[in-house]
Amino acid sequence: MAVLGFSSSSCRSVAVVGAVLVLVMVLNGADLCNGGKTSSFVRKVEKTMDMPLDSDVFRVPPGYNAPQQVHITQGDHVGKGVTVSWVTQDERGSSVVRYWSENSEHKKEAKGNVHRYRFYNYTSGYIHHCTLRNLMYNTKYYYEVGIEHTVRQFWFMTPLEVGPDVPYTFGLIGDLGQSFDSNLTLTHYEHNPLKGQTVLFVGDLSYADQYPNHDNARWDSWGRFVERSVAYQPWIWTAGNHEIDFAPELGENEPFKPFTHRYLVPYRASNSTAPFWYSIKRASVYIIVLSSYSAYGKYTPQYKWLEQELPKVNRTETPWLIVMMHSPWYNSYNYHYMEGETMRVMFEPWFVKYKVDVVFSGHVHAYERSERVSNVAYNIINGLCAPIQDQSAPVYITIGDGGNLEGLATNMTEPQPKYSAYREASFGHAVFDIKNRTHAYYSWHRNQDGYAVEADSMWFFNRIWHPVDDSTSA
Ligand SMILES: *[C@@H]1O[C@H](CO)[C@@H](O)[C@H](O)[C@H]1NC(C)=O
Ligand SMILES: *[C@@H]1O[C@H](CO)[C@@H](O)[C@H](O)[C@H]1NC(C)=O
Ligand SMILES: *[C@@H]1O[C@H](CO)[C@@H](O)[C@H](O)[C@H]1NC(C)=O
Ligand SMILES: *[C@@H]1O[C@H](CO)[C@@H](O)[C@H](O)[C@H]1NC(C)=O
Ligand SMILES: *[C@@H]1O[C@H](CO)[C@@H](O)[C@H](O)[C@H]1NC(C)=O
Ligand SMILES: *[C@@H]1O[C@H](CO)[C@@H](O)[C@H](O)[C@H]1NC(C)=O
Ligand SMILES: [Fe+2]
Repeated sequence: MAVLGFSSSSCRSVAVVGAVLVLVMVLNGADLCNGGKTSSFVRKVEKTMDMPLDSDVFRVPPGYNAPQQVHITQGDHVGKGVTVSWVTQDERGSSVVRYWSENSEHKKEAKGNVHRYRFYNYTSGYIHHCTLRNLMYNTKYYYEVGIEHTVRQFWFMTPLEVGPDVPYTFGLIGDLGQSFDSNLTLTHYEHNPLKGQTVLFVGDLSYADQYPNHDNARWDSWGRFVERSVAYQPWIWTAGNHEIDFAPELGENEPFKPFTHRYLVPYRASNSTAPFWYSIKRASVYIIVLSSYSAYGKYTPQYKWLEQELPKVNRTETPWLIVMMHSPWYNSYNYHYMEGETMRVMFEPWFVKYKVDVVFSGHVHAYERSERVSNVAYNIINGLCAPIQDQSAPVYITIGDGGNLEGLATNMTEPQPKYSAYREASFGHAVFDIKNRTHAYYSWHRNQDGYAVEADSMWFFNRIWHPVDDSTSA
């Protein structure tokens, strides 16, 4: 019981009472150790199937050498840069992006670069990346790609200048894939009346690696599928296990090859040495992205980077501190159980010390939200190895329920551990809606409901700026 228990001391007292009492206490203990809510909503279990390649969402845009798979992400550390990426198939074409602000006649041009890569017997199209820099804050920009051949036009909004009271709305999507359910998740995100302005994507994009030879044509189809959102608002990328594409049996020994060729992140702007861990500031938030699949032990590059990064976060400037990583630390499903444990052991004391507000993860194909808990007291001999309630600790949210072909995680550990506030095996997405330096509203939306329905929600009160502890409410 103590292992599952919220407070290990109350569970441990079981051991000192008599045999009959033990039974009674164990029964009580089951209560004591029970956690929050396991939703009674039972999703109809159907097979999660990928959309066939001739589906409408995968259509190649018409026109000679038309740019496809257009996507944007933040291109600098503070939100004045946007990286635009796209693919041309017929020939190399131009890597120029033409762009202008809504109220300006003056069109500017920026020149990017282009490359291709091979994966086993697949050769990619021409992948273009171009970073637009020194944009104005809080401004709508139009942009065009495909210059010289078939021109396609898109637009995006830059955020307000970084500052403590800047409101901002993030969408949260993970483990999306390209199934019919993935399409429902994206549709629900697009129609959510809480309009997300940027997606925090917690890893596992295309699931191309589930196809024979990691068929990279499924990276292309995924790029065309999500274009309808990511060409208009940045998605912030986290590397998941389905980005590794390590396939020595195919002669492919370079981990993350398709992912890093297709999806740029502004890692150099935060002095990171690899595109798997980095940080950005956006509006009133400092976002740290970590890699569950890169070394994080002591003395490793990721460890040293994070050690230097956390003290740099100025909560007067960015009151909100969000961490993204693929593999969850607090997960009470019987899938990927404790896969996040070694990273938790390394980094959790820092998250408590620096009062991280919330950690978003994916990997487990279901939804779960934790209480504010920590488990940092253990030192090999003291036996203090159970999570305790801790107002300095983050809330941990697993949002790996984007709907990929592997299907839902439905098997949960029983009883529900006390640290687990809410869990449900349904596909969906979430929204983190920052109001000002003290308040943020979080909600989770399952695909079976109407667009506005919140299946789980919580007010976040900023612990640097708010005198009151937040108690979770579902
Ligand atoms: C790659 O090889 C597989 C069999 O190993 C074959 O089915 C497929 O058609 C080949 N693809 C290309 C683009 O040559
Ligand atoms: C995907 O969703 C879009 C928007 O809701 C819809 O128009 C489209 O037909 C769907 N495609 C498939 C293959 O389900
Ligand atoms: C990166 O390092 C340079 C040189 O030490 C420093 O000037 C800059 O502020 C650092 N950037 C960030 C985002 O930490
Ligand atoms: C933190 O940010 C505030 C507001 O931008 C600024 O006034 C202050 O100088 C910064 N503190 C440090 C240590 O940089
Ligand atoms: C759920 O997971 C547990 C632990 O791995 C396993 O023993 C049990 O058989 C699973 N139940 C189902 C219905 O798959
Ligand atoms: C911050 O936002 C909350 C929720 O919208 C609101 O109640 C509160 O008054 C706001 N605080 C300030 C200082 O505007
Ligand atoms: Fe995963």
